[in-house]
Amino acid sequence: DRDTLILGIETSCDETAAAVVRRFADGRGEIVSNIVRSQIDEHRAFGGVVPELAARAHVVHLDTIIKRALDEAGVELAGLDAIAATAGPGLIGGVLVGLTTGKALAAASRKPLVAVNHLEGHALTARLTDGVQFPYLMLLVSGGHSQFVLVRGVGHYQQWGSTIDDALGEAFDKAAKLLGLGYPGGPEVEKAALAGDASRFALPRPLLREKRLDFSFSGLKTALRLAAEAVVPVSEKDIADLCASFQAAVTEIVGVRSRQALERFAQEYPDRAPVFVVAGGVAANKAIGGVLADVAATAGATLIIPPPALCTDNGAMIGWAGAERFALGLTDGFDVAARPRWPL
Ligand code: KG4
Ligand code: ZN
Repeated sequence: DRDTLILGIETSCDETAAAVVRRFADGRGEIVSNIVRSQIDEHRAFGGVVPELAARAHVVHLDTIIKRALDEAGVELAGLDAIAATAGPGLIGGVLVGLTTGKALAAASRKPLVAVNHLEGHALTARLTDGVQFPYLMLLVSGGHSQFVLVRGVGHYQQWGSTIDDALGEAFDKAAKLLGLGYPGGPEVEKAALAGDASRFALPRPLLREKRLDFSFSGLKTALRLAAEAVVPVSEKDIADLCASFQAAVTEIVGVRSRQALERFAQEYPDRAPVFVVAGGVAANKAIGGVLADVAATAGATLIIPPPALCTDNGAMIGWAGAERFALGLTDGFDVAARPRWPL
């Protein structure tokens, strides 16, 4: 084992990102540079990510973002040990842009290519930021994903549950859109909810009575729409109450499921002090974070939420996952395919 330097490229959704990450021989990691260009402004008018616009923006910006990441790190391609790029899951146009760029750079510099599963990037970030040891439980709640993953080792993951319809961040975004709030919706709903009465609207907790670790948010969204339509014309106070009621519902759902997931972890690893890692943009929500802290404390688990910039999509998480894979000799040929759907 020796120190390695990896370039990470991320283009699977609406951030164009590149980073240089160092993995020390002892397994610790360090972010050397981390450049993210968010496309929020391009998509705002549409209330969500438009795949074709996203792919085009990645094409326009990726080369400068990569150059900035290399410049800021003070390295050239020749100084890298490998090049890692997201190969899925995600919006296929964007994934193709990043993966093809990664292949081209690897070919030109004769460096190994590591094709990274975006979810693996989220799953391993806590090892970069906090040196977390395997096994641990992860909850990923973003605009595209809502799932519990048992992280047993690099390349060894077990999905314990996911959403059967919308992702949690997507549910926040759709709630905001139907209430006439801005995009991205999560922070807007959270802000409006501060002034609201969470008990005013009785919204459902879909699936919660079933003993499974899955989520469902689409029925909640419909119930929210019906509740909003019943109070036309909607005042600012109504919006606040609707947001508070919605946030209370999803917070309860996430709390109950997390408690159940930690119970399962304790059953499977009775001798391991449980570690609970939360990632994804929704982890920034204070109400959800508060409930997760309570649930973790009650279960005797250590809660780890990486800093927001590393919870949301970025190049460092891909570089780090690439570094962990590279250390195990896991590299990919240039025939590796982009995979829009790619479960862990
Ligand atoms: O991880 P992320 O930046 O991007 C991906 O989806 O990959 O997550 C973005 C999602 C959006 O749906 C956004 O509305 C949500 O995270 N989000 C929040 C908050 N901040 C961002 N949801 C609830 N409360 C927040 N404070
Ligand atoms: Zn993500």
